[in-house]
Amino acid sequence: MTKVAIIGAGPCGLSALRSFEQVEKKGEKIPEIVCFDKQENWGGLWNYSWRTGSDQYGDPVPNSMYRYLWSNGPKECLEFADYSFDEHFGKPIPSFPPREVLYDYILGRVKRGNLKDKVKFNTSVTNVSYDGKKFEISYHDKKNNKSSKEMFDYVIVSTGHFSVPFIPEYPGMKSFPGRIMHSHDFRDAEEFRDKNVVVLGSSYSAEDVALQCHKYGAKSVTIGYRHNPMGFKWPDGMKEVFHLDKLEGNKAIFKDGHVQETDAVILCTGYLHHFPFLNENLKLKTGNRLYPPKLYKGVVWQNNHKLMYLGMQDQFHTFNMFDCQAWFARDVIMGKIKVPNDSDIDKDINKWVSMEEKLENPEQMIDFQTEYTKELHSLSDYPKIDFELIRKHFKEWEHHKVENIMTYRNKSFSSPVTGSIGPLHHTPWETAMDDSLKAFLEQPKK
Ligand SMILES: Cc1cc2nc3c(=O)[nH]c(=O)nc-3n(C[C@H](O)[C@H](O)[C@H](O)COP(=O)(O)OP(=O)(O)OC[C@H]3O[C@@H](n4cnc5c(N)ncnc54)[C@H](O)[C@@H]3O)c2cc1C
Ligand SMILES: NC(=O)c1ccc[n+]([C@@H]2O[C@H](COP(=O)([O-])OP(=O)(O)OC[C@H]3O[C@@H](n4cnc5c(N)ncnc54)[C@H](OP(=O)(O)O)[C@@H]3O)[C@@H](O)[C@H]2O)c1
Repeated sequence: MTKVAIIGAGPCGLSALRSFEQVEKKGEKIPEIVCFDKQENWGGLWNYSWRTGSDQYGDPVPNSMYRYLWSNGPKECLEFADYSFDEHFGKPIPSFPPREVLYDYILGRVKRGNLKDKVKFNTSVTNVSYDGKKFEISYHDKKNNKSSKEMFDYVIVSTGHFSVPFIPEYPGMKSFPGRIMHSHDFRDAEEFRDKNVVVLGSSYSAEDVALQCHKYGAKSVTIGYRHNPMGFKWPDGMKEVFHLDKLEGNKAIFKDGHVQETDAVILCTGYLHHFPFLNENLKLKTGNRLYPPKLYKGVVWQNNHKLMYLGMQDQFHTFNMFDCQAWFARDVIMGKIKVPNDSDIDKDINKWVSMEEKLENPEQMIDFQTEYTKELHSLSDYPKIDFELIRKHFKEWEHHKVENIMTYRNKSFSSPVTGSIGPLHHTPWETAMDDSLKAFLEQPKK
């Protein structure tokens, strides 16, 4: 019997498990599946952990999410085609939920059946090699301190790429008297109440970590961008300045001459695609981009078609794109989709990569990833979902952010699956301090 390993039980790994479950329900015979996750439960980054550094077994903590994290895009854009928000919550809910609500939704789809039995938790994959016919996977059961090896026909890598921080060094860091941390280790903005904070970076983490610090009472927040500013209309107490030059004592000195006393520096400088468990010839090497090269249809490893990667792209689209990838990977494994010859694969990859390299602005990037996802969608039986509406939502969301970065999370969007419209949340994001599922779903008593 064909054996498939899925490495990682985050959203991508769960999409893969779900894709096989769906064909099994239709009476088809599916391969034997073993999923590995180094955490003690499923949900990937959405399974919040207070831990930073190493876990209780000495293994690096993959989690990068923090308290008070709310969806940074409309939930309608990531909705599963085969499991709507309305179905899960029994009613329409607002468009920008906090982490715990999305975690609940992700798990709702997979926990009804017996998928959990297929996952080995607390189990780190430590090595994957290919002998020309099969993959040998070495893994470590951390709880029982037991190492094992097993052979597989196919491997799906779904280990995420926002877990291993990229940490640059600036002059003066060694003698800075305050706290220096990466956003990977950021857990609670309360820590920075009444403090002057410097945030480095100009992408989603910089934007949101800076906003969180401001929302939870930091005295000042100064964002240092390196190439392009985010350029939002920041509220009083926040500003964006050009590139950190150095730290001198507790002063951050920027290249535009700006000087800011600071208690903490938070490096929102992104993450590395890091696969220490894969042999060199199987390893994807890329930065955070919309079309990493060497992946046919963004999924199949060009040099070995039995190896698949899910979710390795920079992401506007998330959960439903992961689903389209997983359904595609499943159909390749089950022989329903034939991978073309080397020259056609090369042409297809080059076409997408060269299109990506010409993109100039977020609207074009949204169009690019929507086209990619739509193409994948057309290749499998992933259920109907309105990607044109999602494209429109993403562009509207971008405009809302430019209009007012403090209020974009108060807007409503319609579902590409059921058509229902997300009601307004009972409390504007700026003053909603409690991020629990209970507080989000219940109307507060007057
Ligand atoms: C701070 C932050 C906020 C985000 N917010 C949003 C948001 O609001 N909306 C949105 O759509 N997306 C958001 N994202 C993007 C996020 O990447 C995706 O939503 C999603 O979590 C990606 O799923 P994944 O399965 O690829 O990876 P992950 O969620 O990272 O899951 C990977 C899993 O693989 C496991 N694993 C890793 N290595 C091994 C190994 N060697 N052996 C065994 N198991 C292993 C990990 O334990 C983990 O459970 C956010 C990302 C970050 C970092
Ligand atoms: N739900 C939420 O609110 C939320 C919050 C945080 C993160 N996220 C998600 O997390 C994922 C990762 O986002 P991310 O922002 O961490 O990573 P990212 O999008 O890859 O961005 C990395 C940033 O680091 C900057 N950078 C790199 N090296 C630098 C240096 N030496 N000095 C200064 N800046 C440097 C880059 O700037 P250049 O452009 O100059 O290279 C870029 O702005 C995204 O999917 C995002 O949606 C979501």
